Amino acid sequence: MKALILAGGFGTRLRPLSCTRPKTLFPIVNKPLLQWIFEQLARSDIKDAILAVNMQTEFYIKKQRIPKSGLRIRYSIDPPKTPLGTAGPIKKAEKLLDNAEPFLVLNGDIFAYVNYEEIVAKHRETNALATIALCEVEDPSRYGVAEITKEGLVKRFVEKPAKGTAPTNLINAGIYVLSPEVLSYIPKGRAVSMEREVFPKLAGEGKLYGHVISGVWKDIGNPEEYLQTNKIILDTLAKTQKVCAAGKFEIRQPVALDKGISIGENSVIGPYAILGKNVTVGKNVQIRDSVIFPDAQIDDYTMIEGAIIGEAVTIGKKAKISIGCIVADQAKIKDGVSLAEGTAVCPAKEVSENHLRANIIF
Ligand code: GDD
Ligand code: MG
Repeated sequence: MKALILAGGFGTRLRPLSCTRPKTLFPIVNKPLLQWIFEQLARSDIKDAILAVNMQTEFYIKKQRIPKSGLRIRYSIDPPKTPLGTAGPIKKAEKLLDNAEPFLVLNGDIFAYVNYEEIVAKHRETNALATIALCEVEDPSRYGVAEITKEGLVKRFVEKPAKGTAPTNLINAGIYVLSPEVLSYIPKGRAVSMEREVFPKLAGEGKLYGHVISGVWKDIGNPEEYLQTNKIILDTLAKTQKVCAAGKFEIRQPVALDKGISIGENSVIGPYAILGKNVTVGKNVQIRDSVIFPDAQIDDYTMIEGAIIGEAVTIGKKAKISIGCIVADQAKIKDGVSLAEGTAVCPAKEVSENHLRANIIF
């Protein structure tokens, strides 16, 4: 069976970090999300994956050289300046997909432990043209919502219903099995939404089924969800991970430290601190509830709490980075700078003054 991974969205809710990195390349406990996806596909005995991207995401994904877990990887690229939505890219990849067998479609910004074979089995049991993995969430308004019968037939599918109007709490997990016939439901050469055009039509014809999944499921589409996903995975990995770093600093588990990290005296790392490759941390630094991407440098007496710090960011001495801050790649935060909760700093920006109210620093 083949899999198509949708990875050509714009990650607007993760800006400005997503200006230089597609969502699917965001590290989850020091491993790009896409690598987790490849590993999971390989475990389900899938051999072929098609990445539905745009020119920019193709560039970044190729640059990252993610281990392929034995999969054959091919790219299908949206036309320049014409994003095809969530269904258009599937139509565009028609020739690369099997035209006799059902195939798997995955949103590239989802972290999930899912048994794909279970969804395929459900798909084969019914007369479905499409079977969606469904999971239960508290607030379904940010997702696609399905109303199903006992047998799993989707009676109604509504994308992002207004708060309080969702018919159920069962949402589209962004994992589907599609029969090749679905391709004829997708018009060619324009942006098409799977969720707003194709699924409602299939539901109306009684050809759409759902399969409820349980276990870890997260959309990393916004900063809180991204940090939360890292926390959840850290919690499950913590039991097996050892911290190899040694020195006169304190580690408060759970933490994850990649290779080549140095940490100065009296610094306190954790709980819930994830430090990427070659991060350097000075003396008397405190980092908690945060993800620090590779090659960042954090100088003495700085405090970072509940933030995401991009690749090769430098942070001076006695800086304070508060909850909800996002500092994009290569930015420079100078000595003594405080950033208010929820501040976002654009890529390569130098910040030398305090920002006491949340805003975006261009
Ligand atoms: N190639 C390509 N081209 N990919 C795209 C495009 C495009 O124009 N637009 C979006 N994508 C990719 C995104 O990169 C992402 O992996 C996936 O399609 C879904 O798009 P999002 O923008 O992340 O959608 P969402 O999170 O608001 O909603 C979707 O996911 C929810 C689950 O997290 C919907 O499928 C919902 O129904 C679902 O519940
Ligand atoms: Mg999403």
